[in-house]
Amino acid sequence: MWISVKIVLLLTISSCNGFGIPNVFAPFVESLIKNNADKKVERRSYLNEYDFIVVGSGPAGCVVANRLTENPNWNVLLIEAGTVETLIEQVPMFAPYEFLTRYNWGYVAERQPYSCFGSKDSRCGFPRGKALGGTSVIYGMLYTRGSKEDFDNWGKLGNYGWEYYETVLPAFKKSERAHLKFYHKSQFHNDTGYLSVVHNEYQTPIPKIFIDGNKAMGLDEIDYNADENIGVAYLQSNTLKGRRHSAYKSFIEPFLHRKNLHIMLNTRVSKVLIDSVTRIAYGVELIRKNRRHKIIARREVILSAGSFHSPQLLQLSGIGPREDLQRIGVPVLHDLPVGKEMYDHISFPGLLFRSNLTNPILPFLEIQNMVKVFGNFLQSKGFGTVPNGVESLAFIQTPTTNVPHPRLPNIELILLTVAPHYDNGYAVRESERMSDWLYDSVYKQLEGDTTYSFLIVISLLHPKSVGYLELKDRNIFNAPRFYSNFFKEPEDVESILEAIKYTIAMTKTKPFQDIGARLHDAPIPTCAKFGFGSDDYWRCAIRTWCVSLHHQVGTCKMGPSEDRTAIVNPELKVYGVKRLRVIDTSIIPVSTTSHTCAASYMIGEVGADMIKRDWERQSNPYIFHSN
Ligand SMILES: Cc1cc2nc3c(=O)[nH]c(=O)nc-3n(C[C@H](O)[C@H](O)[C@H](O)COP(=O)(O)OP(=O)(O)OC[C@H]3O[C@@H](n4cnc5c(N)ncnc54)[C@H](O)[C@@H]3O)c2cc1C
Ligand SMILES: *[C@@H]1O[C@H](CO)[C@@H](O)[C@H](O)[C@H]1NC(C)=O
Ligand SMILES: *[C@@H]1O[C@H](CO)[C@@H](O)[C@H](O)[C@H]1NC(C)=O
Repeated sequence: MWISVKIVLLLTISSCNGFGIPNVFAPFVESLIKNNADKKVERRSYLNEYDFIVVGSGPAGCVVANRLTENPNWNVLLIEAGTVETLIEQVPMFAPYEFLTRYNWGYVAERQPYSCFGSKDSRCGFPRGKALGGTSVIYGMLYTRGSKEDFDNWGKLGNYGWEYYETVLPAFKKSERAHLKFYHKSQFHNDTGYLSVVHNEYQTPIPKIFIDGNKAMGLDEIDYNADENIGVAYLQSNTLKGRRHSAYKSFIEPFLHRKNLHIMLNTRVSKVLIDSVTRIAYGVELIRKNRRHKIIARREVILSAGSFHSPQLLQLSGIGPREDLQRIGVPVLHDLPVGKEMYDHISFPGLLFRSNLTNPILPFLEIQNMVKVFGNFLQSKGFGTVPNGVESLAFIQTPTTNVPHPRLPNIELILLTVAPHYDNGYAVRESERMSDWLYDSVYKQLEGDTTYSFLIVISLLHPKSVGYLELKDRNIFNAPRFYSNFFKEPEDVESILEAIKYTIAMTKTKPFQDIGARLHDAPIPTCAKFGFGSDDYWRCAIRTWCVSLHHQVGTCKMGPSEDRTAIVNPELKVYGVKRLRVIDTSIIPVSTTSHTCAASYMIGEVGADMIKRDWERQSNPYIFHSN
């Protein structure tokens, strides 16, 4: 049994990740696994009408579909463009490889005058999950919620009903099944929800050193998902027994027996059907197996298609900026600035440190090392279980902070114990769209090295630069255009420069010096003229080698009715239309001090409660029509 599982695994990996192991059977084996999984989820036939239609199955969509089908009197259709994950998606360390699979929409942002010069074609990658479970099937599994001040700030902007202690924290806890080593009885965690939150069992020696080094710089060790936000900690992640715990695994798979939950895969919703006179959203138009269908929603349509596709669907349904809709030829139903603000977290992954410790899984491309990693993974052990190669996080404040509240950190340091040369420039490099000239001049020289290297990635939590998106045309199959504006505001560069200085100083502390930690000082050729390590060198490096953390939010921003930039009200209802909500990360009004997946689950919980409150307190509104 184990042997056959391992063989299937190796075949599949070699097919979808192109390790170069030639095997003609691999695609066949993989499609076999996949089709069976899809069949388990889909139905032979579907209804023409549902109480609720949920478009998109990211974390928020999965939570909404789950919570609404708790009411046996309601039936729910969950529609997803992608398909079901396989065993490969569940290997936490493989997260970077997921970018290269069909589970990624694979978008790239437009070229910018301020940033991304070291990316392929000078364009930063904008990946997104396309799967049952949405981006949670390819994301990095880092579980960070953001701080109380973030949500208090939403309140200050006029968003009633999102108070931290009354609503937001209980919603985080409702989803959560925490098995955390240190915070077991904490009032901030719950251990009986559906979504697993753990500290990784397996650790390399590096995170302990990172934590001690940050402590030597004056930080405390904290639970960053409680009430302290500045400090350092071991990673909390959404894995279970060493495997990725996606929104599908946590909120859908255990509930497939519910007769009132219908799921369509491989299906693209092309617009929301809205009555132009009553302005009631009464269903969706979708494309499935090359045919167009209409399906009716008796109560509500819920867009959970994520920060790129919820705004796309709104615009294609006539809700968007008037001039943009006229340009692409969509009749204007309601003029709203959909997509005009897009917040994101930009990061600098250019600090690579080397050490004197031998890494037992290197060189990674040697077959016995790969087999060791996968074999251990199958037993829930070893480096394969480390989410995205990330083991610890630190949150700091630098002098140029820009933060909306004095208690908030402006910088997150992410400890990655993998480096681009580990697999000779395959996963990390390809997934981040690093250009060949950059890899060849900076990283290639390290190939074959068998000691631990690690990256300390610097992420800017509250950038001043804000991007936007717009539709190319009215074809649902065409990607929107993304304008990131990364580093348009020079202050954003200065904050990262300060964090670089903090990080280099930290690696001079004793815990790091004991392992011979040293900065890899091969210069980026286009910045070498400034002299490696000078302030201007780093400013150039930051603009050259920068990567989005893919936390785009705000494209269907939530706000009170007097807010001219808001798309949905604080109950997530789209302005100007009835019975249509957006429930996903696109409603987040300003960037949070966190990665955004935990927020997506939370928004799903809060949104589902709002729907229940609206519909459960009234008797069936159709009772008069039915007889
Ligand atoms: C590579 C990557 C790594 C990340 N790492 C982390 C991390 O470590 N920690 C963290 O907290 N966050 C991380 N994030 C961010 C996080 O994953 C997202 O913010 C979160 O998943 C967003 O959830 P969502 O519910 O808004 O939508 P999504 O997860 O984007 O899901 C939307 C779903 O809708 C479907 N859909 C879209 N359009 C249509 C249509 N027309 N018809 C039918 N279906 C449609 C899509 O296929 C998709 O499945 C990462 C993101 C990326 C891309
Ligand atoms: C813990 O999670 C369960 C399941 O979602 C939920 O019923 C319970 O209310 C949660 N407990 C707390 C304290 O939030
Ligand atoms: C690490 O290795 C380098 C190169 O071999 C050596 O010069 C240095 O002394 C070592 N440092 C430690 C702390 O062992």
